Amino acid sequence: MTPTSATAPASTPPSELDLMPGVTATPLALLLLGRQRDPDSERGVDCPGELPAASDPTLVERARAAKAALGDRVFVLGHHYQRDEVIAFADVTGDSFRLAQQAAARPEAEFIVFCGVHFMAESADILTGPGQAVLLPDLAAGCSMADMATFEQVERCWEDLTAAGVADDTVPVSYMNCSAAIKGFTGRHGGTICTSSNAKRALDWALARGTKVLFMPDQHLGRNTAVLEMGLTLEDCVVYDPHKPGGGLTAAQLQAATMILWKGHCSVHGRFTVDSVRDVRERVPGVNVLVHPECKHEVVQAADLVGSTEFIIRTLDAAPAGSAWAIGTELNLVRRLAKAHPDKTVVFLDKTVCFCSTMNRIDLPHLVWTLESLVEGRVVNQITVEPETARYAKAALDQMLALP
Ligand code: 13P
Ligand code: SF4
Repeated sequence: MTPTSATAPASTPPSELDLMPGVTATPLALLLLGRQRDPDSERGVDCPGELPAASDPTLVERARAAKAALGDRVFVLGHHYQRDEVIAFADVTGDSFRLAQQAAARPEAEFIVFCGVHFMAESADILTGPGQAVLLPDLAAGCSMADMATFEQVERCWEDLTAAGVADDTVPVSYMNCSAAIKGFTGRHGGTICTSSNAKRALDWALARGTKVLFMPDQHLGRNTAVLEMGLTLEDCVVYDPHKPGGGLTAAQLQAATMILWKGHCSVHGRFTVDSVRDVRERVPGVNVLVHPECKHEVVQAADLVGSTEFIIRTLDAAPAGSAWAIGTELNLVRRLAKAHPDKTVVFLDKTVCFCSTMNRIDLPHLVWTLESLVEGRVVNQITVEPETARYAKAALDQMLALP
């Protein structure tokens, strides 16, 4: 298989994906089964060779042996939302900010196996050297939020801001959860990337350079940070809908706004509701509700605390024995926290299951397949970003890493 690449898409019409005869998907549709091929993106390709069966009782042994055979040549990164069976083989675990830092800090590793989602692996490729390969064990591990902003839509939005006479005063701030093409756009327009750990610092930085921010693609992180941490009001924020002409906004609305929020959200954190908060308070007396800032504004307001995954972990570590916590983030992390803190009550905020389906694409069979392929001298599922895009995206990522 040839390595896949991310480029700033040309303005060609969307091509059809060769899913099944007669079935056409949108250009960024996730191929959740992960066994078909999308020639225009890296999402969803066949694994060359045989993927080990999930029922193979020797998987753990095989992963251990392959990792030992590779030694220092390989470095495995694991996002906090990964399955336990994958986290067990991670050299480092973290949120997207920590993993980006860790990828940049490993120039000696020939192979970075990224157990996370596609935009994170792209960022790792941008931040690592030319002699290093970044591998994503399952190319169907995308992110529905990142897919809510395409390069063409963002370019069109900038044209709308230009027509309204506000582009020169606007600094783009893009959440890590976006494609390399949008990170490149951000760097080209003098902006920065942020994560949920440093969104306030990124907005402070941006508003010292311009009078407005275009925040993409997560409207909730943008709104929660602006209103709850920076003293802005809901009236200072407008939502740009890429599916409406002019984003559904008038020039006067764009001129009056401080925060221009992209209409995107996380399909996992977007599921939590004020009712789930009310319900857990009734079910668990004295519970502290702690949620991720990708949750809706009203949910965050109804909660007791809000913060990134690293903040959630630190808060639980510091909590007194006997305290009770309802956590509004991805279920793999919440279950691990519950196991790690048997002296505290740790429950999931919602009553229904809430895994991130794309994070869960990475499983032990895919990890074993990736590591064993490397042992056999085959670099599979390599993520590479086209150099021109990478250059500007790196400027935006470096700006994030340098935020005061
Ligand atoms: P962080 O890793 O920045 O906490 O983001 C959570 C998330 O949804 C990652 O996809
Ligand atoms: Fe994307 Fe949400 Fe999954 Fe994170 S948890 S990868 S933002 S869909």
